[in-house]
Amino acid sequence: MTANPAQQPAGPSLRFPDGFAWGTATASYQIEGGVDEGGRSRSIWDTFAHTPGKIEDGSTGDVADDHYHRYEEDVELMAGLGVGWYRFSIAWPRVQPDGRGPLNEAGVDFYSRLLEALLAKGVQPWVTLYHWDLPQVLQDRGGWPERETAERFAEYAAAIYERLRDRVTNWTTLNEPWVSAFIGHAIGRHAPGLQDPAAALRAAHHLMLGHGLAITAMRAQGDAGSRFGVTFNVSPTDPASDDPADVDAARRADGLTNRIFFDPILRGDYPADVLADVEHVSDGAHRQPGDAERICVPLDFVGLNYYYRTVVRAGSGDRNAPSVWVGNADVEPVSRGLPRTEMGWEIDPDGLYDILVRVARDYPGVPLYVTENGAAFADEKGPDGKVHDPARIDFLDQHFRAARRAIDDGVDLRGYFVWSLMDNFEWGFGFSKRFGLIHVDYETLERTRKDSAHWYAGVTRTNGLPA
Ligand code: FCB
Repeated sequence: MTANPAQQPAGPSLRFPDGFAWGTATASYQIEGGVDEGGRSRSIWDTFAHTPGKIEDGSTGDVADDHYHRYEEDVELMAGLGVGWYRFSIAWPRVQPDGRGPLNEAGVDFYSRLLEALLAKGVQPWVTLYHWDLPQVLQDRGGWPERETAERFAEYAAAIYERLRDRVTNWTTLNEPWVSAFIGHAIGRHAPGLQDPAAALRAAHHLMLGHGLAITAMRAQGDAGSRFGVTFNVSPTDPASDDPADVDAARRADGLTNRIFFDPILRGDYPADVLADVEHVSDGAHRQPGDAERICVPLDFVGLNYYYRTVVRAGSGDRNAPSVWVGNADVEPVSRGLPRTEMGWEIDPDGLYDILVRVARDYPGVPLYVTENGAAFADEKGPDGKVHDPARIDFLDQHFRAARRAIDDGVDLRGYFVWSLMDNFEWGFGFSKRFGLIHVDYETLERTRKDSAHWYAGVTRTNGLPA
């Protein structure tokens, strides 16, 4: 090492593998707006957000970032940052308003135009088929707790895939089935707002069935260039102490957060201990012969969304109370007193390392992508007209380093998508939480690159970080 910085070799010293996919991510209901335009029908999130008391700041996604009209400007911003990949979701009610049958051409056209704009700027699109905006017409027929919804999803997936597959290589079926199933149906903090543990377990199963059926239907079209996968929200789940009761609580929480989806989708069956933990909630009659094979289809990648680690202990509460760990409400989360983001989530980059290493070990043979990671902070535009967000830069820097360590230790991690491209409608929190690299003024809809956007552009340009 020389003491003179001018003599240091140029470029970053913590490089990522060549071809590493750096991107940003968004989701349709969180950014699009234009809810009544182009033949779009209502989704369960329109219904939920318009139900008084459901969204913290009383807002809805009616306008959101108005991306439906401003997508060209947004693609320009992406291109300006030099971030080469963009993960976005297709709004099912925009392209198939009846939840079945023929596609709505105006809806398909919107995504076609978006794809053309991305490709013209050299940004690679990555499509998520379902990021929580189920057509309300299908909810009226029972939604994900009904098997029919899985069949409808496969039909929708195959139809839109056929239209867009010439321009899109990477296809994610579901974003975070855990959130859809359990936040939506067990604790009701998300659409459709149910507190029904048995329905939540049925929803989980039918989401996975829809995933498998959709990939089979898309693959049947014979385009060998396409890649198919799914995105899970993941959390290392640790016991608060060595007490066997706490260790068992962590096993249950892990089972009902991670393994309940990983095992059927990647190994071909539910873990026996998870089924035993929910036996008093559901008799499992919705699991039909042959479903294991329908769900466990070969995958080209798995996407992981990481935000925080979960630490739990055994509590004494009623295990049948509403809980994200259905039927196991006696499992209690424990705070460790670490610094938190605006979401209240503890900042724990080592958790990303731990979950990457664990998934690579327990479910080997499939390339991994971080399809979401990022942080909400209370960003404000300063008197200089800029948005200084050093905490987000620090957060991302630490998480990127954790990912790099996982790669060093043999994890086949191929890409990383920051959540989010721009501030947006953060579900039950409305517009009160800002996750963007780009600031959005919700009065004027003006976009302003935050400091983190400029910093991230440097990371992606050099494919690495300073040592
Ligand atoms: C994930 C969601 C994404 C966003 C982030 C903060 O669970 O997939 O839409 O809300 O959390």
